[in-house]
Amino acid sequence: MIAVLPGDGIGPEVTREAVRALKAAAATTGATLKFEELPFGGRAIDETGVPLPDETLEACRRSHAVLMGAVGGPKWDALPPEVRPERGLLGIREGLGTFANLRPVRLPPAMSLTSPLRDDLVAGGFDVLVVRELTGGLYYGDKRRWEEGGAERAMDVMSYTAPQVERLARVAFALARSRSGRLTSVDKANVLVTSRLWRDVVNAVASDYPDVRLEHMYVDNCAHLMVRDPRRFDVILTENTFGDILSDLGGGLVGSLGLLPSASLGEGGPGIYEPVHGSAPDIAGRGVANPAGAILSAAMLARFSLGREDMAGLIEDAVWRTLAEARPADLVPAVGGSGDGGPSEGRKGGQGGKDGAGAGQARPVSTQDFGSLVEQAILDDGAEAGAGGAGARDGIKGRSRAKGRAGSVANASRHREPITRNRHGFEWPVAEGRFQW
Ligand code: NAD
Ligand code: IPM
Ligand code: MN
Repeated sequence: MIAVLPGDGIGPEVTREAVRALKAAAATTGATLKFEELPFGGRAIDETGVPLPDETLEACRRSHAVLMGAVGGPKWDALPPEVRPERGLLGIREGLGTFANLRPVRLPPAMSLTSPLRDDLVAGGFDVLVVRELTGGLYYGDKRRWEEGGAERAMDVMSYTAPQVERLARVAFALARSRSGRLTSVDKANVLVTSRLWRDVVNAVASDYPDVRLEHMYVDNCAHLMVRDPRRFDVILTENTFGDILSDLGGGLVGSLGLLPSASLGEGGPGIYEPVHGSAPDIAGRGVANPAGAILSAAMLARFSLGREDMAGLIEDAVWRTLAEARPADLVPAVGGSGDGGPSEGRKGGQGGKDGAGAGQARPVSTQDFGSLVEQAILDDGAEAGAGGAGARDGIKGRSRAKGRAGSVANASRHREPITRNRHGFEWPVAEGRFQW
């Protein structure tokens, strides 16, 4: 069973499309999935008085995986911190022990025009994986607000134990080993004692991974260099707060937060899959939210928690192929250009070009229409495979395969075997949402 927690604002809008994509991938590969929707966040506060009702956490514990939208919004902003929607998020991450938050920041070459960075930096795309600590640090340390000597004071304690750092470092080293073998550990060791512990532990773990090239970097410089040239990074390992900020910066680099997915995994139990973005109250209810990050999170769910690389690949290919021809409003620049400095404006050397996939040529679509196109692309792939067609995994290409043959998807037996290797041929260090060491 997959627990579905749509949450607030655009959460339900994008989660609906993610569920649709999973259902299409299941139909195409002959898998059976069950979904159970549960109250969470502001909606749960309205219904039950708390953001994470016990029944929701219990149902999540029983599930294979948790698919989440986003929580929060102005309606609940004045509530005390203990009962805010965001506290529910911290509660479920802690409750399920999902300490490793994987946030891929990926821009395929065909999408380069959505990035606000110069063509010469992004024409070849980039692929950075932020590995963020998720159940420690400032978010979970003691918090206090009080009055002292006539002045108000407040504090949030940042604390880490060596084992907390070590388990996350091992995840990051294993992932780096499975990719390019480069790892950047990001901290603020010139100021923070937690960062000095972080660095010592990461250095100690490094001796088990002599093939991984480790560098340490201060977080301020990391932000600077990510913008200067994202291609220089592969895997970034960092603590909770730094990872939160750097991953939103990654959203800026690819052109919209709406494109970024995430997976949060622990040493057992279900993983949590959610887009990196929030509930976006400024656009909620208008049908314009970009569901790509949520749908790509569903692909990560299939990969890590279901062990179904075949379903994950189908969903990811469908998203990237759809983006080549149709894009939600956040990725389509305002007519006339200057506007708010959105993607592909200014110095991007004109609109379009590049495989016909330029931002200027992709048509704007609603959340729901984007979801329909992704669904159709998945079903088409299944029909193609069922009909004995050529390989379905051919990356980002124009959608040329026949439409209207979705009726034969049930026969797509080619995809039926669970696969634990991904398309690059390496073994992920997790299976069924659990890290394997
Ligand atoms: P946000 O991520 O919701 O929005 C930031 C900006 O990005 C907004 O302009 C928004 O319109 C845009 N945006 C975000 N996702 C988009 C999408 N899918 N398609 C198109 N545009 C998109 O961040 P915020 O405005 O700082 O926070 C809003 C609320 O969300 C707050 O209550 C915050 O606490 C909460 N939040 C929740 C989560 C979560 O549940 N995981 C994450 C971040 C923020
Ligand atoms: C995120 C969000 C959350 C975080 C907030 C809403 C608690 O910003 O998932 O990135 O900081 O982890
Ligand atoms: Mn965030």
